[in-house]
Amino acid sequence: MQSPSKTVRNATQEAMNQTFPRSVLSASRDEFGNKEDNPDAKDLLKMNVKDGELPLDLQGHVFIVAPVGSIDSPDDRGQRTNSTVYPSSDGTTPLYNGDGMIYRLDFDNLEAGAFLSSRLVKPPCYYADTATDKCQKYQNLKFKNYGITRLGALGVRNQLNTAFVPLKFSQAESERLLATWDVGRPYEIDPKTLETVTPVGRKDEWKEVTNISLPGRLPQPFGVIQTSAHPCFDPRTREMFTVNIGRSFSNIFSQLIPIGYIFKEFLDSILHGQKTKINAKEKDSVILPELETKPLSLCNKIVAIVESIWKFLRGLIGIFTDNFVYLMRWDGSGNLQKWEVRHNGFSIKIKQSIHQMAVTEDYIVLLDTAFKVSVEELLPTLTNKKYQRFEKLLRNFFDRPQLSDNSFYIIRRSDLKPEKFYVDAKKVTISGEAAHFLADYKNPGDLITLHLSHVCAWDAAEWISEFDFDNDKTRNLATTNLQRLYGTIAGPMDISKFGCHVVNGKKGELVKEHQNVIMDEKYTWGPAISTYQNHLLPDRLEDIYWICLGCWEDLKTEHMVHLYKGYKYREFSLESIDDITKQGRPSNLLRLHIAPQESVKKGENRLSIPDAYSFPDGYWVMSPQFVPRNNSGSSTDGYIVCLVHYGDGSDETNGNEIWIFDAASLENGPVCKLWHSQLNVAFTIHTTWLQKVNKRTATYWIDPQKDYNDVVQQQSRQVQDLFNKWVYPKQEPKTEADCQLS
Ligand SMILES: [Fe+2]
Repeated sequence: MQSPSKTVRNATQEAMNQTFPRSVLSASRDEFGNKEDNPDAKDLLKMNVKDGELPLDLQGHVFIVAPVGSIDSPDDRGQRTNSTVYPSSDGTTPLYNGDGMIYRLDFDNLEAGAFLSSRLVKPPCYYADTATDKCQKYQNLKFKNYGITRLGALGVRNQLNTAFVPLKFSQAESERLLATWDVGRPYEIDPKTLETVTPVGRKDEWKEVTNISLPGRLPQPFGVIQTSAHPCFDPRTREMFTVNIGRSFSNIFSQLIPIGYIFKEFLDSILHGQKTKINAKEKDSVILPELETKPLSLCNKIVAIVESIWKFLRGLIGIFTDNFVYLMRWDGSGNLQKWEVRHNGFSIKIKQSIHQMAVTEDYIVLLDTAFKVSVEELLPTLTNKKYQRFEKLLRNFFDRPQLSDNSFYIIRRSDLKPEKFYVDAKKVTISGEAAHFLADYKNPGDLITLHLSHVCAWDAAEWISEFDFDNDKTRNLATTNLQRLYGTIAGPMDISKFGCHVVNGKKGELVKEHQNVIMDEKYTWGPAISTYQNHLLPDRLEDIYWICLGCWEDLKTEHMVHLYKGYKYREFSLESIDDITKQGRPSNLLRLHIAPQESVKKGENRLSIPDAYSFPDGYWVMSPQFVPRNNSGSSTDGYIVCLVHYGDGSDETNGNEIWIFDAASLENGPVCKLWHSQLNVAFTIHTTWLQKVNKRTATYWIDPQKDYNDVVQQQSRQVQDLFNKWVYPKQEPKTEADCQLS
């Protein structure tokens, strides 16, 4: 282990090029693939080899998911487009916000080459978003970006742009695939066609974050459901686990997504008067969603008003009382089973999110993760220039650092009895916040081994926005004439660490003598995403591959300094962080080795970084995926496929390349680089790998019409028309003219 220093003595000798790649700012929304799989797709892309050779023992299929902006994202001139978009160019939309695009790299016909398909994830709200954007008659129902979320009168978009979960519920069944994210039901994707097939769980099997509604406002079809972006699947018992979360008083500001939206409407209405103008011709066919026009008697009106006010107040009270976390189990075909998770007799309170969870042989592990989803992320939307100062003030008032300690909740799987409604959890606190963690499958003697990337003072919910450019101290962000990095994740405010922690699941205690932590001044800055050999589920993790952001001067903001100046576990002073950021630390791919507990002597560290690759100046790596070379199950016998960004995107590669490393020798650099002139990605996130892709044959399917019928029947004729013409039949108008044909 390399001990930290309060100085920068181990700094890279030569200052690196601190220009973060602008290629991350643009993304293509084009779909590619075989016509028989996707009739709307352009041709399948055969990847070009830039350097090296495709290893002939690569196998299977790598899936990558990424947000690629929304239906109304602009092109480089600010114009509407259906192709290459700049989703964050408004100055406040993070690159996280956008429809999920699934990319699949096929390595199953290497003699012909490597091929790439891509397809947008399209749950029902996608079709509502598209139709309300294109068709004038639905314009009052349009969705808009509010920071990290995309909202409208119909509710919140389920963008499914973050991660995957492969599933295999029986020996006979081929592998199935889920697309996931933190705020919406997971959806099953056909691995072959990449088509969006069905949600997991009916609408009425999930509970919304809050049931607050304004007097006179009908329930929204697309309510806010909070879950985990990383449900887990146990291939040995063939069970999938996820969570359904509601949060309340302990994190009241984070509960206010609907109120944030209402607040925005209120501001807009003050400025613009009526929020929606509808021309006379349309007026006859349109009923605004908040009020039905059926004539009511005075008595009925009074009853309706009282009822609405009561619902609103009840929802408001619920903010203070309705904590809940349900642990859900699914067998791939039936209803979701669920248990309320309690600790000391009370429902557990999640203060941030359960971005990640884990399953071991005997336990389910939940973590209140360092990924906050809160009202300040909604506020700076710059819808009106007059309110910019006010919005900045609100951001600074509401915003807060992520919690610096981890609250783990541990549930014994044998306690998940069908006849019970709740399950008790043990709580364990581990210092040093984490957003991602893994667990060894085996837990001998009830000892659970957790592997954390401690993202110390590095906040994935903070991104660069217009507000970061109006301060002399952050002029470094604006010193060049390059595009501003709007929407890009902010850099770390302290060094990150890796931790291997052992917890007694039965007692709910941290086993103190078994804690191991490592940090390295050269490498451990912003370890974002990991991959490992899990094709044959290992009993314990021996090697985990992490990609790290590095330190970039143009990702350092004064707002982050302000948020984390009082960080509890600080290793480097803010002055040192400033120096290091100015010098730069390259983005890297590293292998974290975890020695068996029994092989290390007392006082020795189980953790080491035996192999790493630092990317060239100006290069940034994301989305690593381990591809096994064969079925040996060895933790280093394979390849790491990852996505690399560089430059400003003007290159013929669009500044995006797929690099392939030998997992056993990262330091020797990539063995192959792939590119294609039509591959243009922005902020890619998680990945997965399937050995084979077959057309989905599972019969589990939730009919969207039945799923939404109850709530849609309560809506105006306009909303019912939208669902009947566009959402249920999965139709997309390409232009306004298509709307007239419907
Ligand atoms: Fe994640």
